[in-house]
Amino acid sequence: MRMIKIFDTTLRDGEQAPGCSMNINEKIETAKRLEKLGVDIIEAGFPVSSSGDFESVKAIASVIKNCVVAGLCRCLEKDIDTALLALKNASSPRLHLFLATSQIHMEYKLKMTEAQVLEQAIACVRYAKKFCNDIEFSAEDAFRSDPDFVCKVFSAVIKEGALTVNFPDTVGYAMPDEFGERIRYIKQNTHGIEKANLSVHCHNDLGLAVANSISAILNGADQIECTVNGIGERAGNASLEEIVMGLKVRRDHFNADTKIDTTQLYSVSRFVSQVTGVKLQPNKAIVGDNAFAHEAGIHQHGVLANRQTYEIMTPQSIGIPMSRIDSSGSLVLGKHSGRHAFEERLKELNITLDENTFEKVFEGFKNLADKKKTVGSRDIEALVMDNTVSVPETWKLEHWEIKTGSAAGVSGVIRLRRNDAVIEKAVCAGDGPLDSIFKTINLIIGKEPELELYELGAITNSTDSQGETMVKIALNEKNECLGRWNGRGVSTNVIESSIKAYLSAINAMEYELGERRKEF
Ligand code: KIV
Ligand code: ZN
Repeated sequence: MRMIKIFDTTLRDGEQAPGCSMNINEKIETAKRLEKLGVDIIEAGFPVSSSGDFESVKAIASVIKNCVVAGLCRCLEKDIDTALLALKNASSPRLHLFLATSQIHMEYKLKMTEAQVLEQAIACVRYAKKFCNDIEFSAEDAFRSDPDFVCKVFSAVIKEGALTVNFPDTVGYAMPDEFGERIRYIKQNTHGIEKANLSVHCHNDLGLAVANSISAILNGADQIECTVNGIGERAGNASLEEIVMGLKVRRDHFNADTKIDTTQLYSVSRFVSQVTGVKLQPNKAIVGDNAFAHEAGIHQHGVLANRQTYEIMTPQSIGIPMSRIDSSGSLVLGKHSGRHAFEERLKELNITLDENTFEKVFEGFKNLADKKKTVGSRDIEALVMDNTVSVPETWKLEHWEIKTGSAAGVSGVIRLRRNDAVIEKAVCAGDGPLDSIFKTINLIIGKEPELELYELGAITNSTDSQGETMVKIALNEKNECLGRWNGRGVSTNVIESSIKAYLSAINAMEYELGERRKEF
């Protein structure tokens, strides 16, 4: 049985996509979950691209012990030096170097000839190899490149010691049959390929990233680059869960497998969706809400008689909690549920907490159970998120009060705390209650971030469900965007969940801006 390596780039290619940004704690937690999932390589970021990326690669490199941690670099010594610094504490560091090889990229972006690209690729791998044994080289836009030129570059970098050569379809242009043929060609015409792993990295512009990756496996690829939920630039990258389950369900066809513990797939997917705020389409393969739902009577009848009539894999095989299958997500946990029952639920949700965090989450659960009759798995996931991945609260919500009605405007107060200072302001006029509240918060914090997205949903499908709000904000100064941040808020009161979400985005902003200031 061939073992295919899974190179996860959720934290680099995924996170760099618009609207997918994560704070440093969210990235560290994602990395820990990927490690538990069993990926072979975590691409933690692009260290030279920003101080935020540098710090998160550094932090991830220090905590991840059971898989390789990679940092992306252009073929430049400054990028390599910065990535080496960020990866200093990694147990198994990898430098991932990339340089474009297609005519259009070389001519218009790099303004370099083939000979210059070849020379720079060789020089950089040679330089990097002096400091790090595990070098991966990517020929950016490889699919639109001259195949013989790619073979020439791959042969040369392997000779310099690259242990992995990666063939990306950067713009998602390939068709599965020709992509597979190309991989076979590269494998047959690259000198020394037997000393290296051949990897592929497919984008999804034509919806074929997974099909192309699978076709590459059939034609000799050893490593697949992918992201959880397929997040990534434009239409995204190949989806990790689809590739992994494709190989597992059709092992008879591929005679290949991965090291992934598939029972973790559902919880990792949910987590990434929650931290990025990128919701999954209900019919998303493997992890979408409807992936195991049978609506048509004839299907239901068949499934009741024998699940395999319409199911090619079990929900349990990807770790969907039984409680969700049986009762649409509402676990029967309430205020009388004890520590043991709560621990069991966490286990079922694939959530491991240290003692301290467990106590905080359990206390949150007890408080919530006082307000709500039953606490569901989604409520528990939200409590865990609040206690594991949020950044320090520069601004704390102390009190809020709003009065509004069909005939009246909005009135009330908001009180926030920053260290020992408490600031209270009367809610100012705005276009409805939320606009008024967000404007009042801006007055208190002395900044005016722009609200780019506001989404309100319910955690479960009942009237006592908690409201879950997701916001994305951007801070612009003198026509320059200083950054974008996500915030999440959950509460039994939808106004409170909105305030919490807005404040959590503001706290992410204050934290990152504060970290940037420390560096100067
Ligand atoms: O899509 C691409 O070509 C990339 C490379 C940096 C590997 O993301
Ligand atoms: Zn990419």
